[in-house]
Amino acid sequence: MINDIIIVGSGIAGLMAAIEAKKSNRLTKVAVISKGNLFKSNSSMASGGINAVLDPNNSAEISRHINDTLKAGYGLADSDAVAYMCNRAPYIIKKLTEYGVEFDRDSSGNIAQRSFGGGSSKRTCYVGDKTGSAIMQALIKKAKRVGVKFLVNNYIMNLATIKGRISGVVALRRFDSSVVVYPAKAVILAGGGYAGIYRGYSTNAPDYSGDLHAVALRAGLKLQDMEFVQFHPTGFVRTSYLVSEAARGEGGYLVNSDGERFVDELASRDVVTRAIAKQMELGKEVFIDLRHLSGEEIEKKLPSLYKSAHMQAGVDIKRELLPIKPVAHYTMGGICSDMTKTTLDGLFVCGELANCSVHGANRLGGNSLLEGAVFGELAGVEALKFIQNRDFLPIDYNRVIKDIVLVDKIFDNETSKNFNAMRISLGKMMFEKVGINRDEKGLQDAYSYLAYLRGEAYSLHCVNKERTNNVELISILELRNALEVSEAVVLAALKREESRGAHYRDDFKKTDNSFAKSIIVREPISHYFKLYFKENTFMAKFREFFAYRAY
Ligand code: FUM
Repeated sequence: MINDIIIVGSGIAGLMAAIEAKKSNRLTKVAVISKGNLFKSNSSMASGGINAVLDPNNSAEISRHINDTLKAGYGLADSDAVAYMCNRAPYIIKKLTEYGVEFDRDSSGNIAQRSFGGGSSKRTCYVGDKTGSAIMQALIKKAKRVGVKFLVNNYIMNLATIKGRISGVVALRRFDSSVVVYPAKAVILAGGGYAGIYRGYSTNAPDYSGDLHAVALRAGLKLQDMEFVQFHPTGFVRTSYLVSEAARGEGGYLVNSDGERFVDELASRDVVTRAIAKQMELGKEVFIDLRHLSGEEIEKKLPSLYKSAHMQAGVDIKRELLPIKPVAHYTMGGICSDMTKTTLDGLFVCGELANCSVHGANRLGGNSLLEGAVFGELAGVEALKFIQNRDFLPIDYNRVIKDIVLVDKIFDNETSKNFNAMRISLGKMMFEKVGINRDEKGLQDAYSYLAYLRGEAYSLHCVNKERTNNVELISILELRNALEVSEAVVLAALKREESRGAHYRDDFKKTDNSFAKSIIVREPISHYFKLYFKENTFMAKFREFFAYRAY
């Protein structure tokens, strides 16, 4: 069956978009494409909650939400986009409740709200410490009920475009490694962020490494604010699994190995992260201390953490300190958009993948699920509006053939190189050189190392030639995309010679007003074939990343 609207990505933004497009007009054929398991999206990991003022008429509180979000964005968040999101928040909570999300309630039966970092009021609604996963389960059920189709295990290789308009997507079907085309009148990209590039140092699954950002670059779209990578202050030391901000929201302290508290635990994430990194530089370990909370409180409000601390660290948080470290968690950078619209006719973007300037240089905890829900809903409405009285456009099969040739080439040749080793080195290098603290030398080293890895990655081939569910093939394609996107992060981080929000330069410690602008990265020519098959160091020199957009 051919679909009118295709949504790529099955997290909160993708599903809200799909539900909205489908339920407003049941005759519209809507499909969600995802590269893997529906229940494993990053949205499920945003455990601590979703920000919202519950009363839509409480304009004073909504203004506080807007101001907190703008303050956290350090001058790069767009006030119109932020106001839209915060004003929409009460309706979103109502909608999610109607879809079946059972938010925790206080003793009077009202939705309970907790404090979150950088928030001037208690406005984070939650389901224990598994809010994201509770929301996702409700949305998957709702999407199925309204008739959204799911096309899982499809890996997007490129957008199908014709004369500046979208005509579908080109995907790799994992089941048999065949390249397939899904035509559509409108496409919504909602595939999440790129913090998974920091493999080994990230709360994200490693395959959240910017596939769709690379796809967007190849289609001639722009990426914005790529240097802003949010490090969550608290992850498990060994596994990098998230220790939810809910733990601090419920009163947890951060202490160093001398037993001293050293930071306001509910300051914004960039501030808390850097304070922890400083302690670590001084040779101290850092812990979260929850021993002063009652056992009952821990079991009711932090049940997931209670279990995972046992399982992953052998720690009983009711009695013992839990060692933590900062971990890459969320990426503020993304595909440049005007709310959900892009410069490609019929292509919409939403959620973490997009950058409509709602977070600026740093995101407020609890605003990611909200952004996904609000802009996902909007993308669904906009895409539905867009397809009215429009026909399907032709597919440019010359481009599809290039993808087929690419897959064949990866299968046909031999290699002695190991993609996994490269992927692990990429994560480590990005954490060390493009992590919490950066400087010119580290960033230049990162740039050179990426050029080297790109050369290596373009001579990778599958050792296993079996075409059914070939994990190696996808990993090679992912690695190439991750290298492309990492380079965008490094170039933007080099260009931003100041410190702002999540981007901290040891050699430019101050915020400089002349940098109160977004940095745009784009390919000089949207010639996918050249970029994919050639080693790209030469091309990268000509990449235009100096374009600025001032607000
Ligand atoms: O800490 C957390 O539960 C994460 C929430 C978020 O990223 O918004």
